[in-house]
Amino acid sequence: MKKVVVLSGAGISKESGLKTFRDDDGMWRKYRFEELATPGAWMRNRDLVLEFYNMRRQQLLVVEPNDAHQALVDLEKKYDVRIITQNVDDLHERAGSTNILHLHGELRKARSTVDPSLVYDIEGWELKAGDCCEKGSQLRPHVVWFGESVDNIGPAAEISRQADLFLIIGTSLAVYPAAGLVHYVPEKSPKYLIDPTASFTGTVPNLNIIRENAAKGVPELVRQLLDED
Ligand code: APR
Repeated sequence: MKKVVVLSGAGISKESGLKTFRDDDGMWRKYRFEELATPGAWMRNRDLVLEFYNMRRQQLLVVEPNDAHQALVDLEKKYDVRIITQNVDDLHERAGSTNILHLHGELRKARSTVDPSLVYDIEGWELKAGDCCEKGSQLRPHVVWFGESVDNIGPAAEISRQADLFLIIGTSLAVYPAAGLVHYVPEKSPKYLIDPTASFTGTVPNLNIIRENAAKGVPELVRQLLDED
């Protein structure tokens, strides 16, 4: 089976009702990430950070995957689909995709602050001060903050190297190392960037830009790929 590798960002979840980060109505337009998504923010104002992720988790519990997530599940009928996502939501999982690698963590999980190997599912939406790991330390969101290492980038690069097709969906490609993955993809492999306001100016060989919303552009592309013999 041909390998399709997907790099998804916040744009794929926008039509499910989750905000992106850098759109005009994005989260980093309303909040300062330095106060919410850095180790320093956690040290300075742990309760505000917990509240920020609790608010996002509450939203996640009331939204559903959209046609773009579903189309990527359909693609598995004919291709070996590997999803590398920058998103911390679980919409790819809930749509039914079977091979997902989170680069920036998972909103519905918590992690020990003394032993990062201790990771727990969060039941419901709330992670509170006083919620502790089995070693008695405060739990934190299992999310990669600015300035922290992206531990899954090695496996993600290896997956990208093997791509026969590479789909980039709903990401501004503003954040490294995730944005650099496209350069691991073999030159000859066709790449598709699906984003209504794609402004990517990099020099990537064999790149096809589809200026559509994900919920329209991804199902259309998947239909083409499934029709190909
Ligand atoms: N369909 C597809 N793409 C869309 C849609 C849509 N309906 N709406 C917006 N977009 C595009 C925007 O044009 C933009 O290029 O989605 C992209 C969202 O970009 P960002 O808000 O920067 O989100 P993302 O690229 O996922 O951010 C990367 O930055 O803040 C960190 O860790 C955070 O994982 C995140 C990382």
